[in-house]
Amino acid sequence: MSPTPKEHRTDMSGTAAAPWWRSAVIYQVYIRSFADGNGDGVGDIAGIRSRLPYLKSLGVDAIWINPWYKSPMADHGYDVADYREIDPLFGTVADAEQLIAEAHEHGIRVIPDIVPNHTSDQHVWFRAALAAGSGSPERERYVFRPGRGPDGAQPPNNWVSRFGGPAWTRLPDGDWYLHLFAPEQPDLNWQHPDVHAEFESVLRFWFSRGVDGFRIDVAHGLVKHPELPDLAPLRDPAVEQPREHVDHPHWDRDEVHDIFRAWRKVADEFEGDRCFVAEAWADTPERLAAYVREDALHTAFNFDFLMATWDAEDLRSVIDTSLATLAPVGAPATWVLSNHDVVRHPTRYGRKSPTRRWVANESYRPEGPLDLTLGTRRARAAALLMLALPGGAYVYQGEELGLPEVEDLPESVLQDPIRERSGHTERGRDGCRVPIPWSGRSAPYGFSPDDATAPPWLPQPPHWAEHTAERQTGDDTSMLELYRTALLLRREHPALGDSPLTWLDTPAGVLTFHRAPGFVCVVNLSTAPHPLPDHLAVLLSSGPIKDDLLAPDQAAWLAV
Ligand code: NOJ
Repeated sequence: MSPTPKEHRTDMSGTAAAPWWRSAVIYQVYIRSFADGNGDGVGDIAGIRSRLPYLKSLGVDAIWINPWYKSPMADHGYDVADYREIDPLFGTVADAEQLIAEAHEHGIRVIPDIVPNHTSDQHVWFRAALAAGSGSPERERYVFRPGRGPDGAQPPNNWVSRFGGPAWTRLPDGDWYLHLFAPEQPDLNWQHPDVHAEFESVLRFWFSRGVDGFRIDVAHGLVKHPELPDLAPLRDPAVEQPREHVDHPHWDRDEVHDIFRAWRKVADEFEGDRCFVAEAWADTPERLAAYVREDALHTAFNFDFLMATWDAEDLRSVIDTSLATLAPVGAPATWVLSNHDVVRHPTRYGRKSPTRRWVANESYRPEGPLDLTLGTRRARAAALLMLALPGGAYVYQGEELGLPEVEDLPESVLQDPIRERSGHTERGRDGCRVPIPWSGRSAPYGFSPDDATAPPWLPQPPHWAEHTAERQTGDDTSMLELYRTALLLRREHPALGDSPLTWLDTPAGVLTFHRAPGFVCVVNLSTAPHPLPDHLAVLLSSGPIKDDLLAPDQAAWLAV
């Protein structure tokens, strides 16, 4: 059955009372790994177009597509060479326009990624900067500096790349340039007016092609301290630090908000409701809320929710703090469990006591045996928790198929730049990016067409056969049908928009909240069965319920 959309969520004109993005479920398409239309082993726009009926039947409101621009792919598209071209690996601008139009026909909005902190080293501006030489105006669009020490052989400061090693690379002419990520990703200088003008123009280019918003990569990193001071010595990671804002020379500087206020004005030039979502990492929830003030961005990813452990107290405190800090700025919360940068959550939840540090792939150290049955049971419960919370939610492709992290990719196939930059001490993020399984019993599991000329760009494990969309469709016990039913109910139930929640009293280890009218969500994170509160009907549960008892690591939605 095709869901009946709630008007405020899916009205494509954007004229309804509450904007769609306040409660949207946005599906993340990691384009390389979603669906391969032309058989070259890499996902593409043709593949996304062919799977729009699937996305519609899943019941999502929008898709966020990871970078699709022209790129040498040093960081799988997060190194953009031309923001107005689609990479030939993925298609053409005409294909993108067609996708946007077809998605809209399916009632699905489209949000590309934009990467404003850095370009590719193959971008025309960076090439011009290299050619023009030291001290040239072309170099002022990036962050070039002389080195330190008598012969300038030391980097200009002690900043480090997020991918490992120093954040500076030296050119043969002696200048150093800044890259907070890989050397192929030189940081732009957001003190330069050309940079502002160029990105506002790129936003208009895509808005006028019908996109409904943008996910903003590294939104908290654009502005650097003008004097580029050294970083303070690292605090001991073994000692728990208080959650407080610490002035940092390149993360979350106050001036970054001026950029986004200007972007908001650009978005508001276009008819309908457009939405920005910030990838912003801030020291405190209050600092994060500053990104989504009324005249700034619309939403930001809630990484605190993603990083919370499978623990009732931890989750409740994240939920309460998120809602409380967003309320004064009037922004909706967002909830996210997985994305293309972190270990998939059935795997995270399948190990004992993961810590927050444990989540980021960059410091991923599997500890102890993996109990994937447990992890999956928790992932089912987590989905019902997430989708019952006020605000919007993100679903990372394959999460609805219950995919675990692929932890045993052979070393020879690993591609994430983090691996190289870390001197192979980190495995990187490939394990959550393996092409997803659609159908069949063997690779490429419908990811590529039968006559494909190349295998999927990362090998799919044999157990992908159990997870195909084909196999799960119609199986009421599958993860896919759980997500489908939850999304359908979420659309239809009047309580499940962007309205408040009220916690109900429950013993330690159990989360129970009420949403008006007539809806209760119960999640049992304890080790004992928990009796369901009084209810009229069980609308949905993450596992079978016997004698009105919710088993450990189960969740239920109740009509009350
Ligand atoms: C955050 C993105 O999510 C990640 O995949 C990328 O490597 C970095 N930003 C650099 O653009």
